[in-house]
Amino acid sequence: MNIFAILFFCGLESLSKSLSDPPSVVSADRICKPGPPLKRTPGKTNCLIIGDSVSIGLEFSMSHFLVKRQHQMGCDGYQVQHAPWDDKDGGALDSKYGRQCLSLFLMTVMMEPTTYDVIIFNFGLHDVNYNGEWPEEYTSPADYAKNIGEIKSILISTGAKVGYVLTTPVPYNVSINNLVLEYNDIATNLMNQQPAIPIADLYTWVVEACGDPPYNNCKIAAKQPSPHYSPQGYQYLAQRLIYLVRDLKGKENGRRQDKYSHLNTLHEDTNKFKWMRSAFKDSVACRDKSGQVVTVCPSNSTCCASLFSSSGQGCCLLSQAASCSDGKHCCRAGYGCDPSCSVYQCNCLRNAKNHD
Ligand SMILES: *[C@@H]1O[C@H](CO)[C@@H](O)[C@H](O)[C@H]1NC(C)=O
Ligand SMILES: *[C@@H]1O[C@H](CO)[C@@H](O)[C@H](O)[C@H]1NC(C)=O
Repeated sequence: MNIFAILFFCGLESLSKSLSDPPSVVSADRICKPGPPLKRTPGKTNCLIIGDSVSIGLEFSMSHFLVKRQHQMGCDGYQVQHAPWDDKDGGALDSKYGRQCLSLFLMTVMMEPTTYDVIIFNFGLHDVNYNGEWPEEYTSPADYAKNIGEIKSILISTGAKVGYVLTTPVPYNVSINNLVLEYNDIATNLMNQQPAIPIADLYTWVVEACGDPPYNNCKIAAKQPSPHYSPQGYQYLAQRLIYLVRDLKGKENGRRQDKYSHLNTLHEDTNKFKWMRSAFKDSVACRDKSGQVVTVCPSNSTCCASLFSSSGQGCCLLSQAASCSDGKHCCRAGYGCDPSCSVYQCNCLRNAKNHD
């Protein structure tokens, strides 16, 4: 960190400030984690789950169950992937992050366009800042509604059958859990609006097993305080999601003539996928330490080391951005990361050399 920026931050700016000056401190952007590793596998039901760490646990259980079942029954298989490609923690975070990074989540880690038969998604735990430690994730009810409404429309426009999953309880804090209930009502109303999509009510499934929050000792929940589940808990919840996937898959079979059925590939020349085509032009290859390309980012974005991306790399959707050492944030050109940046929050300080 540069001493001039710090002095500047500490109050000298009032001496020189004019309306035309760019601000000396701005919030950092968050690095988008990439989409999943695999392209569509022909002949399988290709499923994508978009959501946070709860959905990462569910994806694991569902893949296990569906793949085992496919083996037992010799019927057509499933390919279940999670977006973003993050098997560590956090996943799609809050709906602001999800909306911002959605185009990457819908392509593979190498930015290959792909399609899904079924996409199920959830946002909520991070939007309500489930443990009070993530102020940048908090999203107001109005912004939450706007974001998940837009995400719903975009997912439907890919031609996939789309379902929504209600947010699970916050067992250890009734006031935060009340926000979950409020946000679940918002989501339910939006998903019921035309075109209505099916909802899996995991909230109720958990309450049926654990009772209403607060609870401290539920067999399906992880050790408290936590919004996570035990391995048996994830299996229990995955069962409900498998019903949702079957329901959506059935709709697909029964509605071959629907308005999306012509969208077999994203290469088709449709305006809906303009953003994908423009992202390809001058895309950026991100390499690991050995020089191998592990992730591809859209044009006018910057490769950044990402703590949670399973490829180790993510995309800051800004050109010539600075990558922050916390592995989560990045700063626009002309700014550097505040040395106090952490995964919890981060500001960017205007570079002194740009001040004249
Ligand atoms: C619940 O969370 C809120 C918001 O983070 C916090 O102010 C409050 O102290 C928490 N309550 C309990 C009982 O932990
Ligand atoms: C990238 O940014 C430059 C400069 O802002 C702009 O002219 C160009 O159109 C952008 N490219 C794409 C593919 O968006």
